[in-house]
Amino acid sequence: MITVIGSINMDLVVRTDNFPKQGETRLGDLFATIPGGKGANQAVAAARLGAEVTMLGVVGKDAFGQELTKTLQDEGIHTTAIQSVDEPTGIANILVSNQDNRIIVVPGANHVWDEQMVAEMKRLIPKSKVVIFQLEIPIDMVKKGLAICQEHSVQAILNPAPTDAFTEELLHFNALLTPNESEAETIWGSEWKQKIKALPNKVVVTLGKEGAMYPSEVSDEYVTGYPVEVVDTTGAGDTFNGALAYGLAQDWNLAKSIEFANAAASLSVEALGAQTGMPNVDSVLERMRR
Ligand code: RIB
Repeated sequence: MITVIGSINMDLVVRTDNFPKQGETRLGDLFATIPGGKGANQAVAAARLGAEVTMLGVVGKDAFGQELTKTLQDEGIHTTAIQSVDEPTGIANILVSNQDNRIIVVPGANHVWDEQMVAEMKRLIPKSKVVIFQLEIPIDMVKKGLAICQEHSVQAILNPAPTDAFTEELLHFNALLTPNESEAETIWGSEWKQKIKALPNKVVVTLGKEGAMYPSEVSDEYVTGYPVEVVDTTGAGDTFNGALAYGLAQDWNLAKSIEFANAAASLSVEALGAQTGMPNVDSVLERMRR
């Protein structure tokens, strides 16, 4: 089982032909409410590939909270560990323009984690093969979860996004880190490529359309991206993380899991919305044969 410990958001997506400048008003040509949140996205990515997935998160007792929980259930994800609280469900305001995006997250219920959630982590983590974390929930909860993974020798993936709450302490847990390039720069500085050499097989950096890289004991390994028609890059990193967890849960080695995750992420950007383009396993294997 893969357990995802993280955020659940409703994405309020607006598409426009150009981002507004400061103080400017522009017209958009599309508005949609689309399920999102880095945690929920990663759970859906893994489940769509065929993994058994449990989601641990918090939503509000509002219409978004109910809809998002139902969406996860429809994907076959176990949702009994999702709690409902009085705070509103988290939302992400997403502007999409010219194959790029800008996102503001209002965490709402995602920041209302209590001791009951710690008890759920203690219950679920020892039964898990792989556990994925991101940083859209309280950082203390991420630390507690990582410590439980370590105690039970369960493989943890830490997607350090967004980096606002990142602290050096998170590097001391035994987790596979999956930043993108700008997150890597925030964590290790502009010399990040040099710094991560000291962490072979512990860091995978996603490079957008260029693919991904990771330091092995031997050298820096590069996995090339696929040429694709990009519609929306939202959720590409989440697809990568969900697919990486899928591969590791199948006992594939890191190199094979990264190649698979890279192909899955390339498929996810071909549709609007974080979860819309997340592929099934056959589509990923077909892309890898290309
Ligand atoms: O990674 C993409 C996600 O980030 C969006 O779905 C949004 O909800 C934010 O959490």
